Amino acid sequence: MQNLIEIKDVRHAYRTDAGPLPVLDGLNVSVPEGGFVAVVGPSGCGKSTLTRLIAGLMKPDHGEVWLHGERVKGPRATVGMAFQNPVLLEWRTILKNVLLPLEIVPSKLSRKQAEDRARFLLSLVGLEGFEDKRPSELSGGMRQRASLCRALIHQPEVLILDEPFGALDAFTREDLWQTMHRVKEREPFTGVLITHDLRESIFLADQVVVLSGRPARTQYVLDIPSNGPRTLDDLYTPVAAEQLNILRHQIQIAQGRSTAEEGAA
Ligand SMILES: Nc1ncnc2c1ncn2[C@@H]1O[C@H](COP(=O)(O)OP(=O)(O)O)[C@@H](O)[C@H]1O
Ligand SMILES: [Mg+2]
Repeated sequence: MQNLIEIKDVRHAYRTDAGPLPVLDGLNVSVPEGGFVAVVGPSGCGKSTLTRLIAGLMKPDHGEVWLHGERVKGPRATVGMAFQNPVLLEWRTILKNVLLPLEIVPSKLSRKQAEDRARFLLSLVGLEGFEDKRPSELSGGMRQRASLCRALIHQPEVLILDEPFGALDAFTREDLWQTMHRVKEREPFTGVLITHDLRESIFLADQVVVLSGRPARTQYVLDIPSNGPRTLDDLYTPVAAEQLNILRHQIQIAQGRSTAEEGAA
């Protein structure tokens, strides 16, 4: 099957006053249609840079980024994004915040259809009844839920989540993981999740890509079978413990605190 997202041998350096800063060096990521890939790696290794490449917000120095069989040349509405700090506009209601992307890039939906869709998405993430509230009236977890709806309003082919749950407390985060599974069932998308939470990666994704330290290359790929951790209890099984162990070890290698040889010994 053709992959929906294909990143082939991407290399990139930012130009800085101090000279070129190589951030990506041999990045390979493939995500099939409907797949959900989690990307983990040391802080500053180039994870957000990867999301900007997929979203078409920048072009790599070398290598190729393909989306649905086309070379990515610029931003498109078929990519939705959500970040750690949801930027919601305080002077708009939650409903109007979710509808905002349609004002920037119009869709085929009528005003009524758009509003119905926004209300449906808000109810899907558990925000029914909060449509007319302002962002400051919501908790951090609820704001993140609203931001997720906003990212989905265009029915994006690709949903990019850059550490979306990183600022939330552990229980709120686990609630949102379960919400994500519910959303994925009703609103099919191809997902790329950047996270530093290994439990989150095996709970949500069907494949976890570990990036090396900067400049990042694809260091390790762990497939999570479809019967992988999908309820919170599953995170405490021996299989999950083994997956977490492998990933933790790979992160140590990426951080330069261990070597592959030591791990094998
Ligand atoms: N526009 C930019 N210009 C120069 N350096 C940048 C720019 N964006 C990011 N960087 C640097 O590139 C490296 C990778 O950044 P980023 O992709 O944000 O890492 P991550 O998301 O993995 O923490 C970091 O050292 C960061 O400071
Ligand atoms: Mg980042």
